[in-house]
Amino acid sequence: MYICICNAVTDKDIQCAIKKGACSLNDLSKQLKVGTCCGRCKTCAKKILNQSQTLGIQTLATPDPTLAFA
Ligand code: FES
Repeated sequence: MYICICNAVTDKDIQCAIKKGACSLNDLSKQLKVGTCCGRCKTCAKKILNQSQTLGIQTLATPDPTLAFA
């Protein structure tokens, strides 16, 4: 599922970046450009990041699609 439409970043791209060490929204912005255009994806990207940090990347839940452009 696309999380950042402006930069064509999917939830899988974000999960991969987290597995490679991204641990903040700033890291995701630097690596994938998440949130660097309109910024509407920041809430959903942050939620994915928080879930991965809380639950561990292996048990990461599918992001809530209603948050992508809430
Ligand atoms: S949707 Fe991510 S910057 Fe616009």
